[in-house]
Amino acid sequence: MKPFSGFIEELADQLAASGRLSDPAWRAALHAVPRHLFAPPLAWVQGGDGSDRLMDRAVDEEAWLEAVYSDASIAVQFDDGATPLEAGGENHTSSLSAPGVVIAFLELLGPMAHHRVLEIGTGTGWTAGLLAARVGDENVTSVEIDGALSASVGGNLKAAGRSPRLIVADGADGWPAAAPYDRAHVTCGVREVPYAWVEQTRPGGRVVFPWVPGFGYGHKVRLTVTADGRAIGGFCGNAGYMMLRSQRFEHYAPTIDAEGEPSTTRLDPHTVTGDSYGCDVAALVPGLAAVEEETGEGGVRLHLRDPEGSWALADYEPGHDDHLVLQAGPRRLWTEVETAYLRWVSWGGPDRDRFGITITPPRGQNIWLNSPDNPITP
Ligand SMILES: C[S@@+](CC[C@H](N)C(=O)[O-])C[C@H]1O[C@@H](n2cnc3c(N)ncnc32)[C@H](O)[C@@H]1O
Repeated sequence: MKPFSGFIEELADQLAASGRLSDPAWRAALHAVPRHLFAPPLAWVQGGDGSDRLMDRAVDEEAWLEAVYSDASIAVQFDDGATPLEAGGENHTSSLSAPGVVIAFLELLGPMAHHRVLEIGTGTGWTAGLLAARVGDENVTSVEIDGALSASVGGNLKAAGRSPRLIVADGADGWPAAAPYDRAHVTCGVREVPYAWVEQTRPGGRVVFPWVPGFGYGHKVRLTVTADGRAIGGFCGNAGYMMLRSQRFEHYAPTIDAEGEPSTTRLDPHTVTGDSYGCDVAALVPGLAAVEEETGEGGVRLHLRDPEGSWALADYEPGHDDHLVLQAGPRRLWTEVETAYLRWVSWGGPDRDRFGITITPPRGQNIWLNSPDNPITP
């Protein structure tokens, strides 16, 4: 079997070739904080099709190492710990994030060697370890909401010779005791940025997180904190992440316990959800969770729901000009999506890089087009 360093170097080369690793300091951190020290011996490794395969270190260590040093996430908790790890499951509630997205986010964060860094979502501790290798243990504070998860993290980090400050708390509040930070790195998805992260970051500092608004895929965001306590920035590519606990969606099809109001639409629901990342950030429908389901023979059903019980279904069927819609509850969710989509179309369908985001105290979050002076948030 090749040495661990061989697996690490191959992974680093692969990340460099795909443009996600350019800073030699992160290559050095990958070696200093080996990922296998943070992976469970029974590892549920996510495949390209989204399904998990179980790799058992005791059965085949080399195959396990190949998997651990592939660009795949590894689930380390299901159902907030209610389902044993060995049983696996659909509902991942903590993971060792895929190396490609971890390194891409760290490059976006761009900490300097003397910076103080806040991480939200310790998970396995790997990111905290990489950060500690870069800026020193004393400069890293990592917050995890799940005490049971956090309990094993100190051991993982110790094996890598690292000891950043580990806190068990709700990361939505940041960790004011160690503020101010130069960098805040959130490793779970958010729809709305808690102002605490901005407040606890110095002017000129960065707040980096996956923005997962519930419509379409998630987006990497990097904000810079201004002297007057705002944070302004833009979208920097894709990021699919599990959500901050208090901002989770219920990603399941709605329970249809009442008759929906039927109508038809000339818009194709499958195009609306798949059109462009620009459309995804512009489709500002509050509280929305949108999920697509394949219905066979090329058909797709779009499920929309909100936390107050409104739901809508919109069916795309190949060859049809009009598509059936059912809506129920206090809101008309399909109508809201249609309006948001057509608004984006009326602007000429701008791409994601023309949009940005500004956070203002105490709870303001505005999406803008072209310039912070042009907010589009309804
Ligand atoms: C994708 S994992 C993080 C991966 C991790 N950074 C690593 O390097 O392995 C997301 C983590 O965020 C945690 N989390 C979710 N909501 C949180 C909250 N409100 N505060 C702190 N941690 C939270 C989850 O328990 C989970 O462990």
